[in-house]
Amino acid sequence: MGAIKEFIGNVGKAAESNALVRISISDRRDSKTEVKSVTVRAVKLKKGEFLSFVYRYTTKDITKNHLLDESLEIIEKLISEDYMQAELQTSTGRWVLSTHGKRAKIKFFEQVEFQKVNLSHDKQKNRIIEIGGSEYLKSLGVSDEKGRVRPKMNHKYRQINKYIEIVDDIIKNIQFKEEINIVDMGSGKGYLTFALYDYFTNHKKMSVNITGVEIRKELVDKCNSIAKASKFDNLKFVESDISSFEGDNCDVLIALHACDTATDDAIVKGVRMQSKLIIVAPCCHKQIRKQLNPESPLNLVSRFGIYQERLAETITDSMRVLALETCGYKTNVEEFIAMEHTPKNILISAIFDRSLMEKREDKLEEYVSLKKFFGIEKHYLENFLEIY
Ligand SMILES: C[S@@+](CC[C@H](N)C(=O)[O-])C[C@H]1O[C@@H](n2cnc3c(N)ncnc32)[C@H](O)[C@@H]1O
Repeated sequence: MGAIKEFIGNVGKAAESNALVRISISDRRDSKTEVKSVTVRAVKLKKGEFLSFVYRYTTKDITKNHLLDESLEIIEKLISEDYMQAELQTSTGRWVLSTHGKRAKIKFFEQVEFQKVNLSHDKQKNRIIEIGGSEYLKSLGVSDEKGRVRPKMNHKYRQINKYIEIVDDIIKNIQFKEEINIVDMGSGKGYLTFALYDYFTNHKKMSVNITGVEIRKELVDKCNSIAKASKFDNLKFVESDISSFEGDNCDVLIALHACDTATDDAIVKGVRMQSKLIIVAPCCHKQIRKQLNPESPLNLVSRFGIYQERLAETITDSMRVLALETCGYKTNVEEFIAMEHTPKNILISAIFDRSLMEKREDKLEEYVSLKKFFGIEKHYLENFLEIY
């Protein structure tokens, strides 16, 4: 039996025995295919049991539900024609199908702990970061003594999982060496840093060193003691300003909601350390707003404060993206889950691709013309990157 047929057979058996946790289909054959990836879960609706497909576009997700037979046909078509990687997670293990080479290959990874599958649609979703026995989630106050999500921390738990799903999707397109070095700038209370460590070491079984960089000593001390208690030996937190952090070995640079130009400082560090992947969720950047040209007809758009703020943010982030492109990065902008205390929910990811360096001059021209169009004198990044 071919690997694809075997994979589809396993999906059918898992769905029929209520053991299906999640299917992820990714790695587009043609990068122009609009849907970046597809995830599938089992759901119980009033009309019966379905497989729920989430089609992830750059700026939106579309969900469609299908009965099992139809679902199997759709999945087979997706992995035969459009995507090169599929993972089936069941309660007993994980099948990974790859159609990268001449022949499709399938591999099975056994699950150590049995995971009960819950089909109720809204209440308990299957998440990559499981709440159950994770000591660090208790220590961070996300779960209670019994391992249940604290009601007030539901949004945080959802955010953690959304973030991990996004990372899961992005890293499939990157070849890493045996050990991955990750620096998380402005790690704060560490929710996302701990979850990332858990994801790589326990879910992906990959070897990582993660350093959280944070300016506030009390947060650094607290995170280090939780890492120690959780026996997360390769996770450490250091007290430092992002701009003065010294490191030279970084495969993945992350900065989530680092304040104002701290995001730019992180981008500069990521580029200088030649990170393969840079992920930033900008917080704000006030410098551009003051520079928007009041004489331009754009003033008709930005005469109200809220529009002006949004326009300035969009331009700021577009300039960040273009700056990364001039340095040889392939970029993407997508929506990150909204946070409780900030509406900033944009996530920029950038993957280094040496061949893109050939387009540097074109990208520089685009950067300069964008600046000119909006009457912008200078973006903070220009103090560090050669982008004028
Ligand atoms: C809004 S929190 C985000 C925390 C975490 N990254 C997250 O998304 O959950 C921003 C954190 O960045 C830290 N921070 C801001 N500017 C910094 C800088 N220049 N150097 C180091 N840390 C910084 C703050 O102290 C704060 O803990």
